[in-house]
Amino acid sequence: MSSDSSHEYIQGTEGRSPCPALNALANHGYLPRDGKNIGIMQLVSAITSVYNVSYSVAFALATGGMYMCGSGFSLNLEDLRAHNSIEHDASMVHRDLDETGGTLPSNKPDTELIQAVIDLSDGKKITLDDLIRHKYNREVRIGHPQKPMNKKSLLISRGEPILCNHALNRDGSGIPIEWFRTWLGEERIPEGLAPRETLDLITLRTRARALGEAVDALHGKSAKSEPEA
Ligand code: HEM
Repeated sequence: MSSDSSHEYIQGTEGRSPCPALNALANHGYLPRDGKNIGIMQLVSAITSVYNVSYSVAFALATGGMYMCGSGFSLNLEDLRAHNSIEHDASMVHRDLDETGGTLPSNKPDTELIQAVIDLSDGKKITLDDLIRHKYNREVRIGHPQKPMNKKSLLISRGEPILCNHALNRDGSGIPIEWFRTWLGEERIPEGLAPRETLDLITLRTRARALGEAVDALHGKSAKSEPEA
């Protein structure tokens, strides 16, 4: 099955990844609807056109995905579930491997985790600060930093809230809650989605580093507030 030009939303039930962005692209036919045999240029073209990221970001993500989880120059979305390849613990809205009780981490969004983010917000919009606090909570659950996440997973996982904020925060005032539910919960592209700036690799790295520092600061604060033994 190849990608189609109608871009109607049809939720796929098979061949999906733990990445909301890619699943949504497949659900709208920007990527093959069965999530299989995706070529590198197909991936780059879909993510640059829908999510307005620069070619530097698109190639970095796409080649990283192909290299770590693909087969030659072809990728199946399902293969992105490989644990600790790109997939990592402390995911925002997907259950980690130890939470699924199975052999793979979840490739389906979790309603409770989505609600947990919304509960941190003012009830209207989700800010980057809300995502930072949620990320911190998810890291605490797996015991980070006492049982530290590996560097690669930390680097990847702390870039994802930035990608999410880039895609959905249309005017800089926060992510509308309905858009958050639509994109992350239904893996559907919200009507009118048009990220206002083109995200380049240096900006992504700089923002991810700053987000990491903010999460680390929360870890530091909570360690300091623990009573001494
Ligand atoms: C502009 C394009 C992209 C955006 C906006 C994006 C956004 C996101 C977000 C927000 C998450 C976090 C989900 C969560 O924590 O529950 C995520 C996870 C993930 N993404 Fe993407 N992504 C993009 C492109 C890609 C590409 C090209 C690949 C690989 C080919 C990829 C692979 C993954 C994987 C494997 C995860 C799961 C990580 C985990 O939570 O364990 N993403 N992505």
